Amino acid sequence: MKIFINKRIAQKGITLLEEAGLDVIIAPKNELSRYELDGYLKNCDALLAVSLAPDKSFFSSYPNIKAVALHSVGFNNVDIKEATRKKIPIGNTPGVLTKATSDIAFLLMQFVARWGSYYFLKVKDGRWGSFDPLENLGQELYGKTIGILGLGRIGFEMARKCKDAFGMNVIYHNRHQNVEAGQKLGARYVSFETLVKESDVISIHASYSEEDAGLFNVDIFSQMKPTAILINTARGGFIREDDLYEALVNGKIWAAGLDVTHPEPMCVHNPLLRLPNVCVFPHIGSATIEAREGMSVCAAENLIAWSQGKQMPHLINPEIYGK
Ligand code: DGY
Repeated sequence: MKIFINKRIAQKGITLLEEAGLDVIIAPKNELSRYELDGYLKNCDALLAVSLAPDKSFFSSYPNIKAVALHSVGFNNVDIKEATRKKIPIGNTPGVLTKATSDIAFLLMQFVARWGSYYFLKVKDGRWGSFDPLENLGQELYGKTIGILGLGRIGFEMARKCKDAFGMNVIYHNRHQNVEAGQKLGARYVSFETLVKESDVISIHASYSEEDAGLFNVDIFSQMKPTAILINTARGGFIREDDLYEALVNGKIWAAGLDVTHPEPMCVHNPLLRLPNVCVFPHIGSATIEAREGMSVCAAENLIAWSQGKQMPHLINPEIYGK
C-alpha cells in the first residue's frame, strides 16, 4: 500500500510506517505545485496530510485515496461529511500537542500582560533611554480570572497552568460541563456572556466551525473589561481582526496574543502587527520537537491500523462503521 506524505515530518512516524511494510512516498519539497501534488495523489492509496485539508472536490478528484491521517488535531477545513459519505476514515492527532499548545497560550498571556512587544521593540530600535517609573506598566495575573472558551484537553491544561502558577480563578464556557475541571481546578461553568464580562484573560481553545466566524467582534469587545487580555491559539476565524484592532487602539481591551490569524499567513501590512500591545506568532502551538514527533507517530498509527483492516485509534468519523 502506498502512503503519500505531502511535507517533511518527524522521522519516527515514517519509520513506523516503513516497519509496518507500507510503501512511503514523501514529497521531495514542502511546496508542491498543484500539478505535482496531483501526480502524487493519483498514485497513492492513502494520504498523511500535513497542512492540507481535503475538501469535497478532493474526494472526487482522488477516488484512489482510501484513508487520510491528518498531521493535526484540528479538522475544521476537512469535509468530514463527504469523507464519511464515501466511507473514508479520517484520523487526527489528539493529546500529543496539548502541553506544547497550552504552553504557547500561557507564554502569550504573560508576554502581552507585561507589554513584551513594546519593550522588545524599544530595545531593538535603540530606544531604551532613561528610566521612567511609570512607563507602560504591565499587570500581574495573580488571583485574576481566566476564562477558557472550549475546555477540551488544551483548554484544561491552560486552566491548570493558570491556577498553579498564579492562583487564577477558572471559569469556562463549553458545549458540556466538565466535572473534572470543577473538582480539580474549582472551575465554574458560565454562559458565554458571563465569560466575556467576568474574565481578566480569555483564552480560546474551542474547536472551530463556520458558525463561530467573527464570534469576537466589536460588540463582544465592548462588553469585555478594559484590562482584559485575549489569547487565541485555536483558529483565527474566531476573531474579527479589524474589530480587535479598534478595541486595542481605543483601550476597550488591554492586549491580545495570537498564535492563529485569519487568513494565515497574516498579511505583513496588517495593522495589528504595529501595535505595542499585541504579539502574533505564526501558528506554532505544536512546534516543539516532542509534539511534532508525537504527531508523526499518531498519524502513522492511524494509517497502520487502517492498512491492517482495523479502526484508526484516533478516528474522527466512526460513523463510517455505523457507530
Ligand atoms: C492542530 O493540530 O490543529 C494545530 O492547530 C496545528 O495545526
